[in-house]
Amino acid sequence: MTNHESLTRRDFMNGVGMGTAALLAGLPQVEAAPAMQSASDTFEPDVALELIALPRSVSLRPGRATSVWSYQSRVLKGDPASVQALPDSYLGPILRLRRGQKVRIDFINRLDQPSTVHWHGLHVPDTMDGHPRFAIGRGERYRYEFEVRNRAGTYWYHPHPHGHTGEQVYFGLAGLLLVSDEEEQALPLPRGQYDLPIVIQDRSFDDGNQLRYLSGTGPTARGDASGAPSAPGNTMGGGGMMGGMMSRGAMMSGGMGDMMTRMMGFLGDTVLVNGRPESLIEVATHPYRLRILNGSNSRIYKLAWQDGRPLTVIGTDGGLLERPVHKDYVMLAPAERVELWADFSKDDLGTQLTMISLAFEGAMGRMMDMMGGGSMGDAMGGSSLAAGARFPIFTVKVARKVNGSLQLPDRLSAISWPRLQDAVNRAKPRTFRITMAQMQWGFNGRSFQMTAVAPTEVVKLGTTEVWEFANDGGMMTMAHPIHVHDQQFQVLERRHGAGSSGVRDGYVDQGWKDTVLVMPGDRVKLLMRFADYSGLYLYHCHMLEHEDLGLMRNYRIET
Ligand code: C2O
Ligand code: CU
Repeated sequence: MTNHESLTRRDFMNGVGMGTAALLAGLPQVEAAPAMQSASDTFEPDVALELIALPRSVSLRPGRATSVWSYQSRVLKGDPASVQALPDSYLGPILRLRRGQKVRIDFINRLDQPSTVHWHGLHVPDTMDGHPRFAIGRGERYRYEFEVRNRAGTYWYHPHPHGHTGEQVYFGLAGLLLVSDEEEQALPLPRGQYDLPIVIQDRSFDDGNQLRYLSGTGPTARGDASGAPSAPGNTMGGGGMMGGMMSRGAMMSGGMGDMMTRMMGFLGDTVLVNGRPESLIEVATHPYRLRILNGSNSRIYKLAWQDGRPLTVIGTDGGLLERPVHKDYVMLAPAERVELWADFSKDDLGTQLTMISLAFEGAMGRMMDMMGGGSMGDAMGGSSLAAGARFPIFTVKVARKVNGSLQLPDRLSAISWPRLQDAVNRAKPRTFRITMAQMQWGFNGRSFQMTAVAPTEVVKLGTTEVWEFANDGGMMTMAHPIHVHDQQFQVLERRHGAGSSGVRDGYVDQGWKDTVLVMPGDRVKLLMRFADYSGLYLYHCHMLEHEDLGLMRNYRIET
């Protein structure tokens, strides 16, 4: 498909057919669990935890309980407050760590598929980063050990197995990992009940309260493939996808719908906050620190207060900004975090204030037009909530009067940025172009391979580089949030294409980032330094269906 501009819808559909066969041939295989375990006997942890991934059921809606996968954790050594469970939620517990702590986490997999844990945003050795090559099978254990070297901030953890990350996160495997440090502790920031984590995720439920995702996925896939629209055995590993496409009527809902969802990303029709469907949060007349994570598989939010008051941003992926920034709206793509200072001290008791996602255009690039919009849109996970639709996310209700307040500091943090003049490739940035060929996403035409690294994906330990992500592949473009493992980077420059005018003012590029939204037509330059650890790390799109479909590659840091 070289001539993008002349591609018709019919060509596209033919392409899908061809691509499906190619896709089936290249479907992720279950990797053998490596015996490799690089934890050393000399590591003396300050905190030791056990973290178990297991199926369970949780009561989310009236009626039948929902089958989910969930993380459970307990403290084996150290501060008991290191683990904070969220009652009645599928979300994993909040892990609270301090900079400088040595942490051991024994991960135990009780799922019937391989898994790993990735500490999203943390700077850890490559064997501790949850790379899919270290996936373990059911009943196995992986010992993660690392020192917390990151700044205070809102990080998170989730699975990262090959081809199943979207599925495992969707059915419940994710949790926040909050790091504190001395600089942050010294600031007059809202703490305790005024420090409020908010994880936003979109989901779809069937009539029996079960989560709806791709056919044959999730905790109920074995035995009872509920939701699988075509023949029995319609799992992603079998011939079901082709079978589904062939069978009359299943074209749009089953195989074809799955194919579109994988390509475009899953969009749910129900927004959950902290793993719960209730969206009312009672607050006091006091400033709050809202730590917002977009934990959705593929949905992008354009966050704003409904009454038009500005958002006061104090932090991003990698912690506090140097000083607060005021925004009319903030774009939050999958995996991104934003921290807000939200002061309700001047609001009347009973005031209700809703955080909404504003309508925006362009996330789907021209792909939706090309596929005829609505009718194909229905096939995309069957979501009635389109990308860029306007909808409410949660409402805060001012329910209590309290005395005492806090003043928003105008200096939050001292940041020492890497220097552009130190970048070894300053004159010729490393460019990663997001490509689409044979219904496969890729970087510079390459899709994920477990351990492969191209010559253009090798960097030197101790150097600083400029990386440029270019999302300008003509007609076959859509928005992609790009995540680089092992890094917090600086966003140096954005060059905007035509499609992103309604979202531009919503980027918070003043802070450290590990995930950056690259809209269709845009090019974004990042400045990053490869420090401390050598080895094999990932970079990928954090729309999890894209990641699972191969929009992920390794890069290697060499000594
Ligand atoms: Cu949050 Cu490689 O992922
Ligand atoms: Cu993507």
